[in-house]
Amino acid sequence: MIGIDVQKAAELLKSGKVVAIPTETVYGLAANALDDNAVLTIFEVKNRPFFDPLIIHVSDYEEIVKYVKNVPKFLDKLAQHFLPGPLTLLLEKKEFVPYLITSGSPYVAIRVPGHPMTQELLKLLNFPLAAPSANPFGYLSPTTAKHVYDQLGDKIPYILDGGPCEVGLESTIVGFENNRPTIFRKGGIAIEELEEVIGYSFDVKPHSTSSPQAPGMLTTHYAPKVALTIVQDEDDWKKISPKNNVGVLRVSSYLPNYPKENQKILSASGDVREAARNLFAYLRILDDMNLEQIFVELLPEKGLGMAINDRLIRAAIKE
Ligand code: TXA
Ligand code: MG
Repeated sequence: MIGIDVQKAAELLKSGKVVAIPTETVYGLAANALDDNAVLTIFEVKNRPFFDPLIIHVSDYEEIVKYVKNVPKFLDKLAQHFLPGPLTLLLEKKEFVPYLITSGSPYVAIRVPGHPMTQELLKLLNFPLAAPSANPFGYLSPTTAKHVYDQLGDKIPYILDGGPCEVGLESTIVGFENNRPTIFRKGGIAIEELEEVIGYSFDVKPHSTSSPQAPGMLTTHYAPKVALTIVQDEDDWKKISPKNNVGVLRVSSYLPNYPKENQKILSASGDVREAARNLFAYLRILDDMNLEQIFVELLPEKGLGMAINDRLIRAAIKE
């Protein structure tokens, strides 16, 4: 069931149920992070392997310190600047934070979502919410309540509808590794924005779904059902003819001489924020059109374009 009753969502969560919640990045599948049974239901509903750790969500910065041993100075600075917002901190967990959440790691990923409805919800609860993106494992992340309903509607009691997600990409995950500030996942805040605030550069780790213990595993992710192919060369675009039963996702211009109904344009004005907002929704539309293949164009490799490209490249990997 889809609704806007925050109180009802809170009651369900208090009784150990899972509820889909809106965030500014993507919809999450939430449960009490400190209740192993509730968290197990998340893994079950998503069909997610236990080696893929979950992010916990809290209402404000002061809450973060309850769950972690300490916050390194540069992360503190980023937190002050960007939270609430699409930034996740990877920090050493306190003993009582369950290993089920962290897949056995001593580090926990924690964030303060900015969506007002989820802010209100978190304030009604005296526990943090574990929430992965509310999609079956490996599929595109949901950016509307309907996306969640279409795939998980019969498995969960309630979907809190906060409208379409404003950012449309998952949070950027930052932490510390080998004494260096490190990006663990490119996401809703561009790396350049983070670097500007702390005044030096980040290492960027190739993002693995599967936690630091198993780098490189499961690189395929965010994948539609229909095969997706990246096209970089203008000549290759020209080979696509109206005879082909294929979909096209381009950055800012339609492919000429090809039916427009099979095409989606991320942002006609080339606005990268708009492109991020539309990315998963447009891929879903194309994925539901009974096409043989989807061809996509990458964005310039900077700012949010880097995070969008990361999702497209992962979606195109065949394993
Ligand atoms: O924007 C977001 O972050 C969304 C919304 C719902 O908050 N959540 C999200 O969660 O994207 P999920 O479960 O789809 O992705 C979580 C990823 C994991 O796959 C892993 O790469 C990383 O976060 N992660 C979580 N906990 C970690 C940990 N303890 N150590 C290393 N990586 C971790
Ligand atoms: Mg996910």
